[in-house]
Amino acid sequence: MQVRTALIPAAGFGTRFLPATKAVPKELLPIIDTPALQLIIDEAIGAGIDHVVIVTSRAKPAIEAYFQPAPDVIAKLRDSGRDEMADRLERIGVDVRISFAYQEQALGLGHAVGCGREAVGDVPFAVLLPDELMGDSSLLDQMARVCERTGGGVVGVKPVPWDEVDRYGVIDPSGEIDADGVVPVRTMVEKPPVDAAPSNMILIGRYVLTPDVFDRIAEVRPGAVGEIQLTDALQAQAAAGPFHAVVSKVDRYDTGNPLGWLTAVIELALKDARIGAPLRTWLTTRDLLASGSPG
Ligand code: UTP
Repeated sequence: MQVRTALIPAAGFGTRFLPATKAVPKELLPIIDTPALQLIIDEAIGAGIDHVVIVTSRAKPAIEAYFQPAPDVIAKLRDSGRDEMADRLERIGVDVRISFAYQEQALGLGHAVGCGREAVGDVPFAVLLPDELMGDSSLLDQMARVCERTGGGVVGVKPVPWDEVDRYGVIDPSGEIDADGVVPVRTMVEKPPVDAAPSNMILIGRYVLTPDVFDRIAEVRPGAVGEIQLTDALQAQAAAGPFHAVVSKVDRYDTGNPLGWLTAVIELALKDARIGAPLRTWLTTRDLLASGSPG
């Protein structure tokens, strides 16, 4: 069965971005001028997704507001000849079907995914964490095809220096990485000690899962801080059937914390056709890293 549905968990508190996230959801913080959530949806569309389920919180009404029609703004844009932006606004929430599901309490990523069960239905689906930004759709597209071929779950991974593995979820591979970057997975562990880690391949916020994961999530017991971890449900899936990882070749930006967000914005802005050149000029002329520079 083709992977056409994606779930985006967006019900967290975004505490690392407080006080900004007191009123603005982390998922709507701009990457240059576009909400991170929109870039994630665009990535999903590029991988063949036509239905996006956003798991959100009643305390974050701005997320739903983003998908509402904006006739007044669009009329003003058209009056002033800015049709390209008007067309862009008109496509939001129209170029792909958007559904909302609610997580009443932020009880962890596994719980958030579980809250999307009814909206997703009995089909394989992608999960995209909106604070991990990918350079393009190629990884998710490849993961979807691997899921369709194997009938099992797939996670996106990338290698990190060994001394960093204790900060992440890590896969335990059960075979070699093939020429396409696909590797069978025995299990996954969350934040293993460096000397006991089964690999240095970390989970990077992209999953393609079969719908039986919802039953697995329902069986997961809350961990130490009361959170229901997605990794626990994936361990059960991997133990029961085929499970693979795809090693990512695309650029990845962790925009979930202020420094990661800022460096992603700078890197992407330097590549941007409109503002890349003036930004480069500004950075060069200000010579910000030289000793005695401002700040
Ligand atoms: P994060 O842990 O990065 O987001 O979860 P957070 O909890 O909002 O942020 P901090 O750690 O407090 O700064 C990754 C994604 O999963 C969602 C978040 O909204 C984020 O997009 N999430 C997390 C949920 O939807 N529900 C949860 O219970 C936890």
